[in-house]
Amino acid sequence: MEIRTRRLRSSDLLRRMSRETRVSADALVYPMFVREGKGVIEPLPSMEGQTRYSPDTIAAGVGAALEAGVNSFLLFGIPEHKDEAGLGAYSDDGVVQQALRSIKQQFGKSAYLITDVCLCEYTSHGHCGLIVDEDVDNDSTLPLLAKTAVSHAEAGADMVAPSGMMDGTVAAMRAGLDTSGWANVPIMSYSAKYASAFYGPFRDAAGSAPQFGDRKSYQMDYHNSREALKRISIDIMEGADSIIIKPALSCLDIISLARPEVDIPIAAYAVSGEYAMVKAAAAADLINEHAIMCESAIAVFRAGADILITYYAQELARAIKHGDIG
Ligand code: PBG
Repeated sequence: MEIRTRRLRSSDLLRRMSRETRVSADALVYPMFVREGKGVIEPLPSMEGQTRYSPDTIAAGVGAALEAGVNSFLLFGIPEHKDEAGLGAYSDDGVVQQALRSIKQQFGKSAYLITDVCLCEYTSHGHCGLIVDEDVDNDSTLPLLAKTAVSHAEAGADMVAPSGMMDGTVAAMRAGLDTSGWANVPIMSYSAKYASAFYGPFRDAAGSAPQFGDRKSYQMDYHNSREALKRISIDIMEGADSIIIKPALSCLDIISLARPEVDIPIAAYAVSGEYAMVKAAAAADLINEHAIMCESAIAVFRAGADILITYYAQELARAIKHGDIG
């Protein structure tokens, strides 16, 4: 007897019933940029379709995303003033702190606000930590990161996301939050963050390119995958509540390696370069942007991610609503 497997090709409804991967707009996080000033709603040249807001306008942007079905946001600050110690990161009237207050005032609990905690946007040298003897100094940076997390929590952050890849960040931040009355604020750690050319458009957008050297001493070498698992498990031991792997598409293997090892949520970050490539190819009429966006997002969830941080969050939420993916 000839044995044949049935492919799920007979009906659209059968294919939909049998999907292995399901997505929901609840799993999407939309990154947003806030700079100093008033009345600013300006397009980001390196990231077509993305916007830079000021603290008084960002709530309008959040409102539009909420309309589209996106509930969670990742905030990045772009300060006017940068200095050696990244003061703006942890000052009470820092640009992110102002944005948090204004969004929370308008939307309260209906907008879930995650803040990126790093010094690179705030330091004059553009590195993610303090510079001592021309090198990034891990340990003296930790108290400043903890201070930044506490200051974000005070201003209304629901969760903090340390992205600087300094060793011991999660433990330092957890201790700082706990002793300041913010034990309920979870930490989503960028545990596996590769030193990647895919962050190029973001660094243009945030003005955070390092002024000397590169980030290879603290971000990961893309030749390695076991190192990612090690960093993830250290962050979990230190108290991370969820972890981020980034970039997304070039790290699908890392996501699927991590999946069986990790029992907390895994977020993948589809970064600026991934977004910009799709935008550029679409502008040149080389690809179908909508189809590529849908396929890439599903691939990330199929690999094992629970959460997707993406500049396409609003369009994806609409695609889910329309049943293009789901
Ligand atoms: C800050 C940070 C970066 C990104 C997220 N947080 C830049 C970097 O590490 O150089 C990149 C995000 C993106 O490219 O979309 N450390």
